[in-house]
Amino acid sequence: MKKVLLLGGQGMLGSEIFTQSLEMDTVDVIPFSRFNLDLTKETEIVKKLQKFIDDNSIDVVINASAYTVVDKCEEGRGEEQSFAINAVAPKYIVEACKEKNIPLFHFSTDYVFSGDTNQSFNENDDPDIFPPINMYGKHKLQGEKEVLQYEKGFVLRTAWLSGQFGHNFVNKIVHLLKTAPQIKVVKNEWGSPSFTTDVASHVLRLVTADTLPENSIFHVVNERGDEYKGGVSRVEFVEEIRNFLGFDTPIIPVKTFNFVAKRPISSVLNNNYGEKLPDWKTALHALLAKEKEKIEKKRQIAYKKEQAREKYRAQQEQLRAEKAEQVACSQNKKEKENK
Ligand SMILES: NC(=O)c1ccc[n+]([C@@H]2O[C@H](COP(=O)([O-])OP(=O)(O)OC[C@H]3O[C@@H](n4cnc5c(N)ncnc54)[C@H](OP(=O)(O)O)[C@@H]3O)[C@@H](O)[C@H]2O)c1
Repeated sequence: MKKVLLLGGQGMLGSEIFTQSLEMDTVDVIPFSRFNLDLTKETEIVKKLQKFIDDNSIDVVINASAYTVVDKCEEGRGEEQSFAINAVAPKYIVEACKEKNIPLFHFSTDYVFSGDTNQSFNENDDPDIFPPINMYGKHKLQGEKEVLQYEKGFVLRTAWLSGQFGHNFVNKIVHLLKTAPQIKVVKNEWGSPSFTTDVASHVLRLVTADTLPENSIFHVVNERGDEYKGGVSRVEFVEEIRNFLGFDTPIIPVKTFNFVAKRPISSVLNNNYGEKLPDWKTALHALLAKEKEKIEKKRQIAYKKEQAREKYRAQQEQLRAEKAEQVACSQNKKEKENK
């Protein structure tokens, strides 16, 4: 049984990793949130981590913590937080792992690349040649570099992540489908939609393996298939969600949104070394299966209600007609009697 310390254990990805680990008997995952260890307090990280690793005989650390509010990373307090958590903290996490000689699996992002139209990135592409265009990407790249200095440090880049926990793109679109008359989507953005179920099971397989991986950078993204070789566009992503859930909400492609942070046009990641994850549409459908069931049930109830209303309206109409006929009949009768 491997004992794993999971940093960011209550985030979108961390919650999925922890939940899946509960079903396994090869791993014992201990989740940390900022209340167990605040990664902005640089002077405490190494000491606290080392003590915890020692006291609990930890074999592996997974770092799924990050400051992920991309627009807030651009300035002020958000930039400070992002710098501390995404760029600096990995250095201290590495220091603690190195001292105890245990592996570190650290999550990173497609945003470490700039990404122009039609670009996709392999594990060995150098982000310094295609440098990040926003602060989040810059800070995450600095964090990656710290991790890669350690021979037992592994960087797992993922992208466009959604899952059952936390706020994410998919649940935002589902909300809009239910509430908005139309959905505006940026037309010039391509990526690798990925899903926490598959990313989590992938990292859990890596940490429970008997040997350490041969490569140090992995692109842990769902497969795209030949149809989407150049990446999945935001519009295609939203269309797939809409069509699967059976809505007919119009999707309006727009040139750009007024985001504070710039987004890469195409930051598609290719997985050349790791085990392949399921196709993105299969994973998306699995994520939306329960939602689809709920929506269909609601539609059926709404349909039955409408049918009942229709039946009631028809009955009322018939009653009115019968009454009118009766009135006309009795008037006719009276008129005849009067004559
Ligand atoms: N979301 C995406 O679309 C996406 C795309 C590509 C890559 N990634 C990468 O995937 C990984 C997981 O992302 P996610 O979306 O799961 O992130 P998330 O939901 O935002 O969770 C981040 C986690 O980091 C922890 N954290 C934040 N500030 C902290 C602090 N000061 N001290 C200690 N812990 C702190 C949070 O702890 P609390 O629970 O205590 O708040 C939370 O558990 C990250 O490395 C991210 O860069 C994400």
